[in-house]
Amino acid sequence: SKLSKIRNFCIIAHIDHGKTTLSDRLLEATQTVSARDMQAQLLDSMDLERERGITIKSHPVTLKHKAADGIDYIFNLIDTPGHVDFSYEVSRSLTACEGALLLVDAAQGIEAQTVANAHLALDLGMEVIPVINKIDLPGSDIPLVKQQLEDILAIPADEAILASAKAGKGIPEIMEAIIQRVPPPRWGEHPHTRTLIFDCVYDAYKGVICFVRVFSGTIKRGDTILMMSDGTKAEVKEVGIFSPSMKPSSTIEAGWVGYIVTNIKDVSEIKIGDTITTAANPATEMLPGYKEVRPMVFSGLYPIDTSDYEKLKVSMGKLQLNDSALVFTPESSVALGFGFRCGFLGLLHMEIVTERIRREYDLDIISTYPSVVYKVLKTDGTEIEVHNPVNMPDPAEITSISEPTIKATLHIPSKSIGDILALATEKRGYVDHTETLDESRVMMVAHLPLNEILVDFNDRLKSITKGYGSMDYELSDYQQSKLVRLDILVNGETVDAFSSIVHMERSEAKGRQLCEKLKEILPRQMFKIAIQASVGSKVVARETISALRKDVTAKCYGGDISRKRKLLEKQKEGKKRMKQIGKVSIPQEAFVDILKST
Ligand code: GTP
Repeated sequence: SKLSKIRNFCIIAHIDHGKTTLSDRLLEATQTVSARDMQAQLLDSMDLERERGITIKSHPVTLKHKAADGIDYIFNLIDTPGHVDFSYEVSRSLTACEGALLLVDAAQGIEAQTVANAHLALDLGMEVIPVINKIDLPGSDIPLVKQQLEDILAIPADEAILASAKAGKGIPEIMEAIIQRVPPPRWGEHPHTRTLIFDCVYDAYKGVICFVRVFSGTIKRGDTILMMSDGTKAEVKEVGIFSPSMKPSSTIEAGWVGYIVTNIKDVSEIKIGDTITTAANPATEMLPGYKEVRPMVFSGLYPIDTSDYEKLKVSMGKLQLNDSALVFTPESSVALGFGFRCGFLGLLHMEIVTERIRREYDLDIISTYPSVVYKVLKTDGTEIEVHNPVNMPDPAEITSISEPTIKATLHIPSKSIGDILALATEKRGYVDHTETLDESRVMMVAHLPLNEILVDFNDRLKSITKGYGSMDYELSDYQQSKLVRLDILVNGETVDAFSSIVHMERSEAKGRQLCEKLKEILPRQMFKIAIQASVGSKVVARETISALRKDVTAKCYGGDISRKRKLLEKQKEGKKRMKQIGKVSIPQEAFVDILKST
């Protein structure tokens, strides 16, 4: 049958283990693009992706391959995002395939994301083909990686293919393994059309383009389709495949990977993981695994120059076109002016969005402390969700507060065990168990509040392990915790941008740290400034900045008028960049410094 000549697969790996390089080799080997036309890293198209070595979007590609037996096969390769923030997208991309190449760097061995991704694939019942990559490296240790495959993932070591994506070694073996070991497309017998949306992008001319895997039936231009998660109907304007760029065709059929363009203009109306069926003859049961993604981390984004608000709004809207996981609503802060409360999948997602605003839209922005979503049970019996510390009710109205926790899997050198245990404790977590990976490395499973890994956990992990540690996490339960809102007051006025939710036992230390830092940063003014940290009405730390008489023209001795004027103008300029908190002017830089340093 037609299906027996199709193989749908993806490549899963820890960051930097060579996924993009291997994809490029497969494209070359099947002459999908000539080497001359190919950029060094064709599949990672965005600059930022390239610079950070992170693949954000999945780019499918259809390859034609004549096998050793002379039969022509169609390979659909789906690229998957490598990072934990995007693990739902990974699982959707995996579902679009029957098999996965599990790429492991021969010198680095199995790492946190190798395990996380391999488990996702194995849990979905996929065929996993282990590939040990970078065997050309002098530091490669093939027997060790084989041992790890068996011990950690229970994958037979003799199934591993040895490769060097860089040197082009092992590529024919990989292609043959895809044919022999990856099953042909499944679920093709279903009586109705069922198509999985595993990604979507926005195109200025075409509108929303859905990346899809057809499981059964066909979809053709002119069809009315039905999104099964919410019953949305849409008209199909175009269908086609990626070879490697978009190529329209009259239909897409069972087993294929391709794209659908509809009359839907807004990415937020498309749900990744949704099942598309035809309105004329609809399926009744969705493909498995769909869930709604919800932002887990919230932060305020504000333009440094308040006149950039409109520009920020426009650029966030543009980013959202291609990123349905990004949500934002207008918000204002006494301290920072007008901005947006934004929701992200995780920290990396937040970093990528803020970086893109800075770079692609050339905007100077400041982000407030990231916050998780707290569940607050109030004394009146209602439960609310709090995304912003400012909205935390008065302690007298609160019965209990719960916070999200995570289960983290850490891969670290054995000699760092002690320091990592201490770090976990410091971050209010505990280590559930530790497993030996080989003579020098262990895997640790720890439970931690999500809030505690938001700021510097990864940096600390990297520094403790000298860069050798890695982490992956999944969300776990909400847990009740003794949390309080810590406010910072300047001359009695709360500076809303500095409010945060902290554990009761940490409130004093954090308050003191913030006060000290503010004292260092705030310029002295003509009156005394009191800086206080408070929890409710209780002051937990305080600092005072003494008064100063400041005359910028004093050192000019009245001589040089033009110089004097320049100085005054400069001072005026400086005033514009000040935020007025009560009587106190706080320079914009102070906010940036504080929010960055704590
Ligand atoms: P992410 O997109 O961040 O997940 O990275 P990736 O897995 O796509 O890795 P990528 O292909 O970008 O490779 C990472 C680095 O490893 C690059 O500098 C590659 O040149 C290098 N690399 C990839 N394959 C090999 C190999 O077989 N041997 C050697 N020596 N280097 C390789």
